[in-house]
Amino acid sequence: MAAHAVPDEAVANSPLARRSPRTQVPPRVAVHAAMKLRTVLLRAADRVLPSELAVLEHSADFSVAYLLAAMVELGVPDELASGPKTADELAITLHSDADALHRALRMGAVHNLVRLDRQGRFHATRLTKALTSDAPYASDQWCAFMASKAHQNAWGDLAATLRNGESGFRRQNGMSIFEWFDAHPNEGRAFAAGLSGLTLSEASAIAASYRFPRAGVVCDIAGGAGALLGEVLRRTPDARGILVEAPLVLTEAAAYLGSLGVAERVELRQGDLFGDLRATADVYLLKWILHDWDDAACVRLLGNVAAAMPPGAKLLVIEGVQERSEAHPRFSPIDVQMLVVTDGGRERSIPEIQSLMTAAGLRPTGVRRTPADLALLEAEKP
Ligand SMILES: C[S@@+](CC[C@H](N)C(=O)[O-])C[C@H]1O[C@@H](n2cnc3c(N)ncnc32)[C@H](O)[C@@H]1O
Repeated sequence: MAAHAVPDEAVANSPLARRSPRTQVPPRVAVHAAMKLRTVLLRAADRVLPSELAVLEHSADFSVAYLLAAMVELGVPDELASGPKTADELAITLHSDADALHRALRMGAVHNLVRLDRQGRFHATRLTKALTSDAPYASDQWCAFMASKAHQNAWGDLAATLRNGESGFRRQNGMSIFEWFDAHPNEGRAFAAGLSGLTLSEASAIAASYRFPRAGVVCDIAGGAGALLGEVLRRTPDARGILVEAPLVLTEAAAYLGSLGVAERVELRQGDLFGDLRATADVYLLKWILHDWDDAACVRLLGNVAAAMPPGAKLLVIEGVQERSEAHPRFSPIDVQMLVVTDGGRERSIPEIQSLMTAAGLRPTGVRRTPADLALLEAEKP
């Protein structure tokens, strides 16, 4: 699919394109420090609380995921954006049961998803605002995916995954997660938009961590809806891009890149990580791709990329870094997410990723870190 005009309707229907991306670099060092501090405080609280109470609270953690998704599905965050409302008022516009809504949102207030005042009115918090349908990072879409039945069924079968090490998603749903998205486009779109939101929130820090060629070609392989490529092209007005993805995701990408005003510089190309990529570029990006696959598949897909690369071209692999014996507040949970939903995917350490590069015939040439602990591992085609 070459760069093409995107109908207004596609932009209006795209969960990502109607957002207004924030491009300023978020203070990731502060974010990282806050995550560490929260872990420390929770540990301290668990020391003071009776242990059975702490366990009881954790046992209900899943209910927050469902509450988030229900708030989004009903449209509570959008309604509260115009000001505080009682559940009776919300129930009329949201066609729901006032008492059930009051009780659910009161629970939401415990988790700061809303604030409840003494007059029974619910107010938007920072978290509610992040969940509106026009919030920049599409967290509503991510929450919808996380609470979807196929995803939750995979997690519900965790003990079986721990027994045999195999994907709960495939066992429960009979296919890989990416095949599932092809067969269930609404879920595929929610995942693509939600993940693009996550990538968008870090794209600026990633793009600032690497010297992209001012006028070269950047190819993002399995680049989702184009959140990272869009940011790179926004910063390098003379550069061009190629985005390789599955057809459904390319439709999202066309709408999103169009809304960003860079679509005419991007070639959208339907392609398979394990097929012939045929994309000639100066820099290739693989962000959050290796963690979806086992080592053998990673070497195969890296070999495919290497085959497409002209000599001297660079590959940037962008991943979280997980050391074997370090519990990382962000990447250890993502690692188990990969265990549950993919066929052999995992978070890896820097030497582990570099040895996959070497096995695929690439020469690792350096590592940069973003403040949020993402690693940019560069390799060169010899
Ligand atoms: C974890 S997402 C990462 C997306 C993007 N790089 C980012 O970080 O936002 C993995 C992506 O791989 C794509 N994908 C999965 N299997 C693929 C295949 N065989 N060929 C091409 N793309 C594939 C999916 O459509 C999805 O967008």
